[in-house]
Amino acid sequence: MKMDLIILLALVGSAHSASHTFKASGFPLIVREGEDAILLCLLSPDTNAEEMEVRWYRELESLVHSYMIHRDVIEAQSEQYRGRTSLSREELKKGNVSLQLREVRSSDEGSYSCCVLSTGMQCAAEIQLKVVDSSFSVEVPVTLVSARVGDTVTLPCRLSPLSSAVLMEVRWFREGVKAPVYFYTLQKAMTSVQSEEYRDRTRLFMEELRNGNLSLQLDNTQTSDSGLYKCSVSYNLKEAEAVVELKVAGEFLSFFLSFFLSFFLSFFLSFTLFCFRQFLCLSL
Ligand SMILES: *[C@@H]1O[C@H](CO)[C@@H](O)[C@H](O)[C@H]1NC(C)=O
Ligand SMILES: *[C@@H]1O[C@H](CO)[C@@H](O)[C@H](O)[C@H]1NC(C)=O
Repeated sequence: MKMDLIILLALVGSAHSASHTFKASGFPLIVREGEDAILLCLLSPDTNAEEMEVRWYRELESLVHSYMIHRDVIEAQSEQYRGRTSLSREELKKGNVSLQLREVRSSDEGSYSCCVLSTGMQCAAEIQLKVVDSSFSVEVPVTLVSARVGDTVTLPCRLSPLSSAVLMEVRWFREGVKAPVYFYTLQKAMTSVQSEEYRDRTRLFMEELRNGNLSLQLDNTQTSDSGLYKCSVSYNLKEAEAVVELKVAGEFLSFFLSFFLSFFLSFFLSFTLFCFRQFLCLSL
């Protein structure tokens, strides 16, 4: 282990003389315990890496995966990762040296670096792997959303702890409506089972799903859309849900109508009151 560290550090020192740069994801990768992770690392310009030596390290000391000219070198691999790592051979040809790590454990947390040895050893910036508990809940940051007729609104909802919901089943329901307002499963929207009333008016922020954002966008709101909405998530036989209320105020026109109506009503009332008083005075 120590040997690896020394070799690595020595070679990192000569990195400037080599010719590759890396594209590694700058964001921490958040994975639920027990799931598989792909630690992204691409060579730039894309070079066939099949003939190279590729190594993945954690904290630059534990050897996670080692590949050398068409084969994996498992002898040197840290015990903890035995049988859980692989590199895609097809992807290696395209300079994609991403690591596939199966059944992530909490002890896998840490910062990972991918390194290639061609003219010298070069390592990419570190990728943070965070492992969260396999249980989850759903939360709504605000419980009441107000809108006017014709608006586009976002009903907020997110997974807690924040982690990817791409593989989960996400359903939005409206109180009193049996069919879901929105239904996402197997990585796509199931419009066929969706409530007719909401067809073509609802969507999730698909790129945000990987950040655990389950918010629903609703177009062209109607006063009849007012009510309670339930954001529900299920995955691996676990379920969680949260409720948010939508209030859609009437149209501008009806606002005016009610304004004038109340104006005339109060005018009428004060007039009758006035007459009544006049009548009282006269009769006295
Ligand atoms: C790189 O390879 C991984 C599998 O090892 C794959 O999931 C990923 O999509 C690939 N990335 C690109 C940009 O080709
Ligand atoms: C979800 O993403 C949308 C679109 O980017 C954003 O407007 C909204 O605030 C996000 N909601 C939450 C709960 O993070």
